[in-house]
Amino acid sequence: MRQVASDSHFFSVPKELIPVEKVVPYNIYINSSADDKRLRYVRIYPAGEVLTGSDLLSFEKKYAQLYVHESERDIYLDTLTDFSNVSRKEKMEVVKGNAVCHLSSIFLRKGSKDNENLGYFIKECRSSVESLLELTHCNDIGDIQKLIGTLSFHDFYTFDHSINVSIYSMAFLKAIKPSAERRKLISLGLGSLFHDLGKIKVPTELINKADKLSEEEFCLIKKHPEEGHDIFLKHFNDVKDLEVHAIKRIILEHHENFDGSGYPLGLKGEEIHFYARIVAIADFFDAVTTKRSYHKAMSPQVAIDLMNKTAGKKVDPKLFELFRSAFNLVGTKEKDYLELEEGFDPCQPQNVLPLKSFKAKKQKSDIFSKEDKDKKAA
Ligand SMILES: [Fe+2]
Ligand SMILES: [Fe+2]
Repeated sequence: MRQVASDSHFFSVPKELIPVEKVVPYNIYINSSADDKRLRYVRIYPAGEVLTGSDLLSFEKKYAQLYVHESERDIYLDTLTDFSNVSRKEKMEVVKGNAVCHLSSIFLRKGSKDNENLGYFIKECRSSVESLLELTHCNDIGDIQKLIGTLSFHDFYTFDHSINVSIYSMAFLKAIKPSAERRKLISLGLGSLFHDLGKIKVPTELINKADKLSEEEFCLIKKHPEEGHDIFLKHFNDVKDLEVHAIKRIILEHHENFDGSGYPLGLKGEEIHFYARIVAIADFFDAVTTKRSYHKAMSPQVAIDLMNKTAGKKVDPKLFELFRSAFNLVGTKEKDYLELEEGFDPCQPQNVLPLKSFKAKKQKSDIFSKEDKDKKAA
């Protein structure tokens, strides 16, 4: 019997990522409505049946797009690892798209009544984090960085940034503690995915404001760690197999500086949770190396030099050294020509990165990534 549904809790799936000549463990739907404004999903293939190559070919001819119901998202994501012929980039594209979808459900609910379903969406994010973890097997940050660079969703700054920070953080922990338990990796991944959760309380114009923020505006942005912590506390307390306390501390402490000059608590050194110190490094690295609408992407080599100058002040020096060596990140040969202004905050949007000590030896264009320069030349 055909199942029909009119709600919008469906997501589209690429045909190449549907198992062929194997049991498909989820139901496949199409949108049968000819009217763009109305959605009417009809099940065309039941879960548990073997889908043949000719079935899929006929779907390709007949239907523009195939869909899976939200309730089967986890099952769908699980099947992705079986595709050895699909590139990591393509898999990552799907997984990242899923994560963006979950995060947008959270971040775009600003006007709704106290986000009553937030707990549900937060739990859903776990499946995305688990899939991201499966896809970060290698320890080469250059590779991960390339992947992240090619899959940037510039229009969704906070979502995209959060996913990148989550990937970097989990890859880093795996590199320095290869036998880390899965629950630890997932907890770190979820904490870093939600590190900027409190930004749902900050007006979007402020988050994306490229001009210098007034003191008052910056104060508002600086509230996001506490706001995020409170939101998480309220909506996500019942998970037994995760380190919920550590997740909360990541959200609250990711802007603490190693020398005690950070916010909101002014914690120092190892008073700051280990995971929060990892996320601070990943947050910084992503903020400067990913192209944003308001500033260019910096090459990882230059980023490492810049970050090195903040080791012991902003970031944990020992952890930073591990980050650098674990991912084989080498700085530039001329380490002295660039420095970030005191008080640089990876959270604050900027038109251009606030750099000082800019010596003439290097041209400004040399500090940005190759991809950026190639685009300029084209
Ligand atoms: Fe933040
Ligand atoms: Fe951040």
